[in-house]
Amino acid sequence: MSQSKDGSQTVVQWEDRGAIAIATIDRPKALNALNLDVLRGLKDLVETKAHREGLRAVVLTGAGDKAFVAGADIVAMQEYGPAEAEAFSLEAQALGEAIERAPVPFIAAVDGFALGGGCELAMACDMIFAGPKAKFGQPEVNLGVIPGFGGTQRLVRRVGHAIAMDLCLTGRMIGAEEAVRSGLASRAVDGSALDAAIEAAEQIAAKGPVAIRMARRAIHEAADSDLRSGLAAERSLFALCFATADQKEGMAAFVGRRPAQFTGR
Ligand code: CAA
Repeated sequence: MSQSKDGSQTVVQWEDRGAIAIATIDRPKALNALNLDVLRGLKDLVETKAHREGLRAVVLTGAGDKAFVAGADIVAMQEYGPAEAEAFSLEAQALGEAIERAPVPFIAAVDGFALGGGCELAMACDMIFAGPKAKFGQPEVNLGVIPGFGGTQRLVRRVGHAIAMDLCLTGRMIGAEEAVRSGLASRAVDGSALDAAIEAAEQIAAKGPVAIRMARRAIHEAADSDLRSGLAAERSLFALCFATADQKEGMAAFVGRRPAQFTGR
């Protein structure tokens, strides 16, 4: 944890690595639990640094070797009343929406616990990569509460009613393989999820930036609309790609049998 200029503690680290960036939630002693400082710090970074010119993808991870994020900070929440709980939920939901609205994809690299708010934060990302030690779950019922950081809504969209009910009502934890089988995570990897996520972020960075943006938008649309409206949105976004230099370059490169040089225009 480092100290910022105003003396407050910086609980999220941001590392720019050329076309990609790595954001690390940095409270390993509390298994990276989400308190207001983390929620606000990360949202601020998402709304500023994730909009940097030339950035193509962000990897989100947790510090230490035990946890991505073990949930909302239970110590902080313990004495909350309904008004404080609602404000806390609003801050976290706004963070999830800021990630979804960011111009570049986010990959959550989960090498340990991703529980409660941690699982919910990962689900706000475009992809979740899970290492051998990954454990996902919505254990809020153990504490007498329900998921409040978007979990009931994003989980059901990812895994469907049957598995969302199972996870939210039993609070049980699942590993990487089951997370992928159920549709919660994108990939189970043998080694480090962080390394795999960085590799995928670099692959994404080499693609047409406009196409990546349009694909994300179309897929988000699918989660929130009926098929006919979703297909209409996809058609418009597909057509819009043909107004870009990236489309001309991508197809010319294919036909000319050379690597594409995308400009993001
Ligand atoms: N909030 C605050 N502190 C937490 C925390 C959390 N969610 N999870 C872990 N910690 C702290 C522990 O209190 C402990 O601190 P101390 O060393 O000061 O005692 C430290 O992190 C290490 O944790 P453990 O000693 O418990 O580690 P473990 O390996 O024995 O167990 C664990 C790991 C199974 C993840 C366990 O820590 C645990 O069950 N954590 C809580 C998980 C949880 O219930 N998450 C949901 C929170 S509610 C929520 O997220 C609501 C929402 O949707 C908004």
